[in-house]
Amino acid sequence: MRVVKTIKQLRRAVKAIRLKGGKIGFVPTMGYFHAGHLSLMAKAKRECGACVVSIYVNPKQFAPHEDLGRYPRDLRRDSTLAEKENVDILFIPSDNVVYPKSFLTYIDVEKISRTLCGQYRPGHFRGVATVVAKLLNMATPDVMYLGQKDAQQAAVLKTMAADLDFPLTVRVMPTVREKDGLAMSSRNVYLTARERAQAPVLYRSLNLARARIQKGERSAAGIIRFIRKNIARHTEGKIQYVACVDADTLGPLKILKGRVLIALSVFFGSTRLIDNVIIPVKKPREVQN
Ligand code: PAJ
Repeated sequence: MRVVKTIKQLRRAVKAIRLKGGKIGFVPTMGYFHAGHLSLMAKAKRECGACVVSIYVNPKQFAPHEDLGRYPRDLRRDSTLAEKENVDILFIPSDNVVYPKSFLTYIDVEKISRTLCGQYRPGHFRGVATVVAKLLNMATPDVMYLGQKDAQQAAVLKTMAADLDFPLTVRVMPTVREKDGLAMSSRNVYLTARERAQAPVLYRSLNLARARIQKGERSAAGIIRFIRKNIARHTEGKIQYVACVDADTLGPLKILKGRVLIALSVFFGSTRLIDNVIIPVKKPREVQN
C-alpha cells in the first residue's frame, strides 16, 4: 500500500495503476475506520481491482459548534486496517493541500441539501460536495463507493456527479451494523454505556415501522408518529427529526409509495446519531394480491 500526502504523489500513483490497465475504485472517508468503511474498501477492491482511500477530516462540513476538534482520529490503526483490505493507495492530505489560502470555490447542490439533516446543519452538504468534488478531481476514479448510512449525503453526491458530468459511477452500499442493530459510526465512541445500550432502539423502531408498512400502513404521518413514540418510550434520546421521503428526490411524502426513505436523527446527550431504511412500497391493491 502506498501512503501519499500530496496531489502530485497521488496522481503519480494513480497513473501507475492506470498504465497497467487497472480500474480505480475510490472511498472517501474521514478515518477512524470501522467495518462500514472496510466494507466499502473490500467492494471497491473486488469490483475495480484497485482501491484508493482518502482520509481527510474536512473542516468545511463542520459548523463552528460541531465536533471538528474532537473528531476521533487514529491514523496508525487506520493504515493497518487499510493495508489488511489490500488498499492500493491511502491518500492523507493536510489542510493546506486541500484548501490553500487562495481557495474560493464551493459547490452547492440545491434543494436536496436543504431537507432532513440539511435543515439542522446549514452549509454541511456544501462542505461535503465541495471536498468530494475536489477529491474526485485529485483521484480520478472510475467508481466512487458510498454508504447508505448517510443516505442524504449519497443522494447529494450522486446528484453532484450527474449535474457536473463527473466521468464516474457512484455506488451506494448497505449500512453495516453492530450485532444489536446499531449502525456503525465513528461517532459511536462518544456514547456513554447508558446511551450505547439505548441506541439500538433507533434501528428497532425503523424495523417495526417497516413491518407496519408491510401490513398496509400508508400514512407518512402515522409512521412518523409511531417511530417517535417508540423512541420516546424506550430511550432518553432527543429526537431531531423523523421523516418519510422519496428515496431518490428526498421530497416529502404524505402517502407512502415507491421507494420510501425513512430517516431519523436523534441526540443521545451531545452525540447525534442518524439512521435510515429504504422500503419499497407497493400500491395497496398489489399488497392484497
Ligand atoms: P465518513 O463518516 O468517514 O464515512 C465515509 C464513508 O463510509 C461514507 O460513504 C459513509 O456513508 C460510509 N459509512 C459510514 N458508516 C457506515 C456504515 N455503518 N455502513 C456502511 N457505510 C458507512 O461521510 C464522510 O466520512 C464524509 O462526509 C466524506 C464523504 C468523506 C466527505 O468528507
